[in-house]
Amino acid sequence: MTTHELTEAILRLKAEKRAVILAHYYTPGEVQAVADFVGDSLALAVQAQKADADIILFAGVRFMGETAKVLCPERKVLLPDPEADCSLAQACNGEQLAAFKAQHPDAVVVSYVNTTAEVKAHTDICCTSSNALRVVESIPEGRNIIFAPDQNLGSYIEGRTGRKLIKWKGCCHVHDRVTAAQIEEMKAAHPGVKVLVHPECRPEVVALADVAGSTAAILDACEGDDQEYIVVTENGILWELHRRYPNKRFYPVELVCEYMKMVTLEKVYKALADESPEVVVPQEVAVAAKRSIENMIAIK
Ligand code: 13P
Ligand code: SF4
Repeated sequence: MTTHELTEAILRLKAEKRAVILAHYYTPGEVQAVADFVGDSLALAVQAQKADADIILFAGVRFMGETAKVLCPERKVLLPDPEADCSLAQACNGEQLAAFKAQHPDAVVVSYVNTTAEVKAHTDICCTSSNALRVVESIPEGRNIIFAPDQNLGSYIEGRTGRKLIKWKGCCHVHDRVTAAQIEEMKAAHPGVKVLVHPECRPEVVALADVAGSTAAILDACEGDDQEYIVVTENGILWELHRRYPNKRFYPVELVCEYMKMVTLEKVYKALADESPEVVVPQEVAVAAKRSIENMIAIK
């Protein structure tokens, strides 16, 4: 089928099956185009919780589908490609986090949403890059805090809040690849142009940013009077940047998450048609994981 035929077929199936499609900004543009809601990790979790539908098709990576299933256990949650993983989610498993906690028994555990449901089940409160500062600031001063699994996001939080975190040493292999030298080169090529950086990048890269923030924060930062921006996050965001700001120019660092690009329009169509693959989270894991996600959502 052509892209147009696939798009039409997906829209038809969506209506027939009372399904909603939630898509992350990093998925391919044609997938974002068939979604009912496109957002960053935080907005997608909130939207999953509110979804009035029989089926939620999560156009994103596996931890995102799991989060939706944990929040909506009674709904059928479909993931177009369950092999679409995330290097952060792979960086730490439930058993490892439990052993780490045992070494710091008095610590509050904060985990990035980019984790498996099992890791969330060992977590007190989750966070995303949108609310990480608020989440950490909600913990009383003087309490020890374990932060897993993104050491770069952890460093960013430490810098902004002045709090010291006990950091897990994981990273996003896509954002961690960017070097300060690359940013210096781009700044030299585009003098005076603001640099927008996702905090999954290394501290020395974040230090060169005019704005550091989640994908949603980067999108909002382009609302100002400037006509050009240097964008340092996964390239899927360009679809939404061009949609919102058709007359502005964006200079991206070439960053592609191969996991997000596994979510193709064909797989979205097939998943909706077959109502499979479905996300399954064991009930005891889901109950414990839900608490840590709801603790996060409660922090505005
Ligand atoms: P946000 O959507 O919170 O910006 O996170 C980016 C990301 O890497 C999602 O996998
Ligand atoms: Fe995971 Fe990085 Fe891909 Fe996001 S961009 S899904 S954090 S590997």
